[in-house]
Parts: sequence; C-alpha cells; structure tokens
Amino acid sequence: LYGQRLGLAYAGYVKRDPMALLGLRPGRDDPYAIYERMRRAGTLVPTRLGNWATTSHRVCNAVLRDRRFGVRPENEPMPHPDGINMSFLELDPPDHTRLRRLAQPAFSPRQMAGYQPRVERTVAGLLDAAPTEFDLVSTLASPLPIAVITDLLGIPDARTEDFARYGAAIGGAIDGIRSLPHALRLQAARNELGTLFEDLFALRREQPADDIVSRLVAAEGDQIHPHEMIPMCVLLLVAGFETTVNLIGNAVNALLDNPEQWKRLCADPATMAEKAVDETLRFDPPVQRTLRVAHEPLELEGRPVHKGQWVVTLIGAANRDPQLWADPGRFDIEREQTADHLAFSGGIHYCVGQPLARLEATIALRVLAERMPGLRRAGAVRRRTSNTIRGPLRLPVRSA
Ligand code: HEM
Repeated sequence: LYGQRLGLAYAGYVKRDPMALLGLRPGRDDPYAIYERMRRAGTLVPTRLGNWATTSHRVCNAVLRDRRFGVRPENEPMPHPDGINMSFLELDPPDHTRLRRLAQPAFSPRQMAGYQPRVERTVAGLLDAAPTEFDLVSTLASPLPIAVITDLLGIPDARTEDFARYGAAIGGAIDGIRSLPHALRLQAARNELGTLFEDLFALRREQPADDIVSRLVAAEGDQIHPHEMIPMCVLLLVAGFETTVNLIGNAVNALLDNPEQWKRLCADPATMAEKAVDETLRFDPPVQRTLRVAHEPLELEGRPVHKGQWVVTLIGAANRDPQLWADPGRFDIEREQTADHLAFSGGIHYCVGQPLARLEATIALRVLAERMPGLRRAGAVRRRTSNTIRGPLRLPVRSA
C-alpha cells in the first residue's frame, strides 16, 4: 500500500515538475542556465506531460493575477493523505479569502515595528555565540527565523533542532515524496506538530496571550473550522522559516561571490542591507517557482490552455527577464530596481509574511556587515536538493 501511495506522490511530482523533465539534477545543476534555454524556446512552452511553463516576467505576472486560474483543480479533494495540508496557500476563494484574512493582522506594519528590537537581539545573540569559523546556515540563517516564527506563534520552549527537522521533512515534500524514509520522516513531523499544536490550542483556550495561536483559538468555530487550525499553524510555521533561511543564505552566498558588493554593504550597512536583500530576492529567489491550474479554457500567448492544465510560473527565471532588467545575471546591490520582482509571487497569494521576511533578512545582513566586515568563505557550499526551494544547506565562513 505504501509503495502504491509513494508511486502516486511520485507521479504527481513528475507531472508538475518541468525541471525533472529537462534533466535538471536538483542541488547540483545551475537552474539559471536551464531557464535561459527555456527562454529561447518562447514565452510559454509545453512540458512533456501536457502542461505549460513560462520564464517570462510578463506572463508569470499575468497568470498569477488572473482569476481564471486557481491553485487546485476544481472539485479536487484536499491534499493527498500522504501530502501535507498547507492551508490557504493551497486554497482558492472563498476559503482562501476567509483564512488569509485571519492571518494577515499578524504581519501589519505596527506588529513589524514591535518586532524589530526582538529580531535585533536574536541576531546579536546568535553572532555572539559564533566561533571564528562557522556554518552561516546553522549558526544564523536557520535559527533566526525559527526563533522569530515560534515566538510569533507563541510556541513555548521551541527547540531549534526539532523545528529544523520538521522544516526539512515538510519543505522537502513540496517537490513530492521521494523515498520511503522521506515519507516516514514526513509522517513523524506531521504527528509531532499535530500534538504540539493541539497542546498549544488547549493552553491558549485557558490562558490567551498576545500571539497568533490565541487569535485563532478565539476565532475557532466562527471564521475557522477546528480541522483547519493545524494546517494554518503548519503553513505559518513552515512558510515562516523554510524560505527566510534561504534568503539569508542566498544573500551571503552572493555577497561572498562578489567581494566588491560585500565591501559596498560594509561601507554603509544601514542603507545598503535593505537593497542587498531586494537584489537577492530578484537575483536568487528562495522560491524558484509556483504553479496555477486553469479553471476554464482560455488562451495564453496565442496558445489554447485547457481547463485542468497547469502553468508553471518560473519565478527564478522571471526575475532575470532581460526585457525588464539590464544584465540580469549580474548581482548588483546598487541596481535601480526597474520592475517588481516576483520573489513573493503576485495576485491573491502574494506572500503574507513578506514584511517579516524582509525585516529578518535586512537586520541579519546589517548586523553581520557591522560586526564581521572581514567575512569570507571557509569551505564549499552544499546546496539543498529541491527544484522549488533554493538555498544553501551549509555555508562555511570565517569572520576574520
Ligand atoms: C506565500 C515566498 C517568507 C508566509 C508565499 C508565496 C511565495 C512566498 C512565492 C506564494 C506562492 C504562490 O503564489 O503559490 C516567500 C519568500 C519568503 C517568505 C521568498 C522569505 C524570503 C514568509 C514568511 C511567512 C510567510 C516569513 C510567515 C511568517 C506565507 C504564507 C503564504 C505565503 C502564509 C500563503 C499566502 C496565500 O496563499 O495567500 N510566500 N515567503 N512567508 N507565504 Fe511566504
């Protein structure tokens, strides 16, 4: 039975994965070279299994904003039993609208301003504890967003290692379940998180606090059904750190590849950190692609898209579209951003955590540049093996 279910999950993976069809080995090959090959084939290219993929910023943007597309085929039941339910990320209106509205207030400008000192303290604490030679990912990029999002959700005594493990199992499932051990790790993560959140809901029903979970508990049965509570928390948790860790990792990686840019940042961290974050989001976005399914027959780029066909929007490719950016393959933190990149997607699913991701990454880069201007590499980068989520797993550095 397990074999059969894995087979199904694997079939889903291949069907939605144009990279696999193009022979990209995740984590080893340069996706950007493949995107350029696809770009030469046209703005909308058919995938071998009968879907479509686009590298064009204009087409990605249009598809993400077009309400004739959705994130799940019409009448499809909630995710596969062995998959992971990612709440409103995987829902179309009206459920999407109702649940997103509940999460949104946690990321308001007022909440963000209140968060700044906590993020600064966390970054300082992590760097204080770093030896001269360290792995940037396990020392800073990973524990920072875990500390921030577990705090925002009100999870007491969160152990970084446990959450990094849940994130790896769940984040890895975005591309599909690739082996039996992975299926088992995913199931274990799901069970542990289920218990953790059930306990937390019970606690917050008794003792409400100023956190997201307390607000969800207060809305339960009204704006949110009991069975929607855990998926919502899992979405916020995993989206909250599996992406931000890669933004910080990709930023430092690009800065160390371009020492003159690192020097530019160190000369004026207070203004340049924000720009370095924005250029990283364009140049090497943590989420490389998303996809949408046609809810009705339509025409796109002069091609017929049938109801039920998927369009893969390659964010990593759209962000280097030469129609919009000059010399798009060059990392330049002083670049005049001539267009909005799609690192946080677009339309109704535009990343709800965007202000928090920017806050964390900007503070991390600013403090790193202020305290360790002599930062350099101390070993080879090891990359994640995913085609969707891009970032280093290990980034060895020396502070002097
Ligand atoms: C949605 C990227 C950080 C929570 C998205 C989407 C992208 C994205 C591309 C939309 C996917 C789609 O259109 O199919 C990123 C990146 C991040 C980041 C690159 C960091 C660099 C965060 C953080 C949180 C968060 C810190 C929360 C704490 C969410 C949620 C959604 C989402 C809840 C679903 C929105 C919806 O479906 O309406 N993110 N994200 N993200 N993100 Fe983020």
